[in-house]
Amino acid sequence: MDGVLRIPAVNLTETDALIADALNGLTASSKSLSPKWLYDHHGSALFEQITQLPEYYPTRTEAGILHDNAAALSGLVPANGALVELGSGASVKTRTLLNAGRHFGAYVPIDISRDFLLETAGDLRTRYPRLSIVPVVADFSAPVALPRELATTPKVGFFPGSTIGNLAPDRAQALLEGVRAWGGIGAFIVGMDMVKDTSALVAAYDDAQGVTAQFIRNILVRLNREAQANFNIDAFKYRASWNPALARIDMQLVSSHEQVVTLAGQAITFEAQEAIHVSAARKYTPDSLRNLALSAGWDVAARHTDASDRFSVAVLTPVHRP
Ligand code: SAH
Ligand code: AVI
Repeated sequence: MDGVLRIPAVNLTETDALIADALNGLTASSKSLSPKWLYDHHGSALFEQITQLPEYYPTRTEAGILHDNAAALSGLVPANGALVELGSGASVKTRTLLNAGRHFGAYVPIDISRDFLLETAGDLRTRYPRLSIVPVVADFSAPVALPRELATTPKVGFFPGSTIGNLAPDRAQALLEGVRAWGGIGAFIVGMDMVKDTSALVAAYDDAQGVTAQFIRNILVRLNREAQANFNIDAFKYRASWNPALARIDMQLVSSHEQVVTLAGQAITFEAQEAIHVSAARKYTPDSLRNLALSAGWDVAARHTDASDRFSVAVLTPVHRP
């Protein structure tokens, strides 16, 4: 021993929340885990690999739309205003807006994946030395408190990637209402993936190289490491399926046989073929997109799309009722 007290490099509060949430989801009659736990540092890196897969069209398609509309979108932010991004990840597509938005005063990336966010912020500071980069580690499942110094700064929200599709409809509405309540908010730019041919949708979530399977199974790896669990990772097979009634892709881990897993001292029994629902990716139509926006007090001022209407970048503006 060198006399130095070594504290595990995890946030105890976050670990407690992970254990409580996992136990809650895995002891319910229909087992589930929240997709927000997919994003430890390795999960964030795996998602970046997904964005490069031939089958995963959303990132490329949205990047093209942002490129084609960069001037109009960056022009929504007033001079010295802030672009505030939810679920920013590696902020790669965002650079298209930052490049076109040399008048921005601040960029505020918000993400739950702490170390990945802070690394990305460091990289952005080098790329954009004149821009104030203000990373915020937060869980957008609850209302996000912005830094006090930005309370009244004119701002535009940005939520790309169709990450809004990973939220249940009532949660998506609550998030839109929360952003609507930010001081100085002028517009909210939201990326939403559209309903399309089922085979293209399923392939995007079940790639030939198995990267998506690795990304989803990483949640069990994380539980083993951080939640005192003993999942046999190989005994859970990944399954992606299209749910037409709910217009969503369901991502599940299916137990290959009957087994008992322990998590934080509690035994959890799995039947053969029993599934854990890990994530859903909701897809939109022009109508469902507009209805979601309106339900939370936003008008769809513009809907930028690609030639095949595969993906939408919606510009939402606050509804002003007389
Ligand atoms: N915006 C990027 C990354 C999308 S991946 C893109 O479009 O490519 C989804 C991102 O949201 C990840 O970086 C993940 O860490 C973050 N995220 C997921 N759930 C979150 C939550 N509840 N609160 C905050 N960030 C979350
Ligand atoms: C981040 N989010 C929008 C991705 C999606 O398409 O739902 C997460 C993902 N899960 C599996 N592949 C990609």
